[in-house]
Formats: sequence, C-alpha cells, structure tokens
Amino acid sequence: MSQVIAALNRDHANITKLLKIIESEILAIAVGKAPDYPMMRDIMRYMAQHSDRFHHPKEDLIIAQLLKCDSVIRADVESIIEEHVSIRLAGLEFSGLLGAPGIDSVDVREQLGACGFAYIRALREHMLKEEKQLFPLALEVLTHKEWEFIDGALDAIDDPLFDEMNADDYRRLYRLLAERTEVCA
Ligand SMILES: [Fe+2]
Ligand SMILES: [Fe+2]
Repeated sequence: MSQVIAALNRDHANITKLLKIIESEILAIAVGKAPDYPMMRDIMRYMAQHSDRFHHPKEDLIIAQLLKCDSVIRADVESIIEEHVSIRLAGLEFSGLLGAPGIDSVDVREQLGACGFAYIRALREHMLKEEKQLFPLALEVLTHKEWEFIDGALDAIDDPLFDEMNADDYRRLYRLLAERTEVCA
C-alpha cells in the first residue's frame, strides 16, 4: 500500500479517538456533569492547527493528482475539497464557543452541544467518504509513477502529537489521551 494511504488511515484512527473524547465530554454536559473544557480546547486546537497542517497536506498530494483526471473524478474530488473548508469552519465555530464568556450558561451549553455534535458528525462522515471512496479511487486510477511522486513528498510532513509524543504543546493532550485509552478502544 502507498505510504501516504497508510499514514492517512493512521491519522483517521487518531482523529477518531479524539472525536470520541469530545463526544463523551459533550454527553457529560448533557447529563449535567462538568466537562473538561481545557482538554476540549486542546483537542480542537490540535484539530484546527495541526490536523489541517499535517493531515490535509497529505490528502492534497493525492487530490492534486486526481484533479488531472476526467470531469467525473474531478467532481468527486472537488466535493472533498469543499468539505475540508466547511468542516474547518464548523471546527472554528465550535472552538469559538469553547472560549465563549458565559460558557456555563444554559444557552451557550446548548449551542456548544449542537455545534460539537454537528462538527463530530461532519468529520466522521467525511473520513468515511475518504476511506470508502477517495482512497480506493486513487488506488484504482493513479499510476505507479504518480504514487512514487506522492510518497516521495510525504517525508516533509509529520505530526507533533502522534509522531513526536513529547512535543511540548501537546504533552498534556497526549497524557490525557493515554489515560482515556480504554474509553477510546
Ligand atoms: Fe479530508
Ligand atoms: Fe482525511
């Protein structure tokens, strides 16, 4: 298998774990428990800054090659690009609420739950679409030479949370993730 596809599948597995943590925190709010807001903010910061910075560039390597294909394939690929934009905006809206004044008010908590669940659902559906449609399509239509080019560009991209576990910015998040491994399994 292409190194990039393997790396993307690993990214999706890690993102899935983080989404489960956010989901469990939102569910805690719904039953009147105190959520771990700092952890939720850390996760969303990771999603916004680093998933975009390290995950999408890998997908962009594939997308750039597929955009050279026929119009039917291009239409499918363009829908993925549009989802990257809409999910990023949904993430920003959710992150904004996590930093909002009056976060413990009923109104803000209700908004937080609605936005959080919408973000989680959109990202899960997007990853499923990539795994079931985009990646198989790429594996079917791209040439050996194109995969060599894509895999050759992968070395420049790494991930500070999951590939360099001691990165200072995400040490706390990694520790919390490790503590919640059973929840995420
Ligand atoms: Fe994506
Ligand atoms: Fe993805």
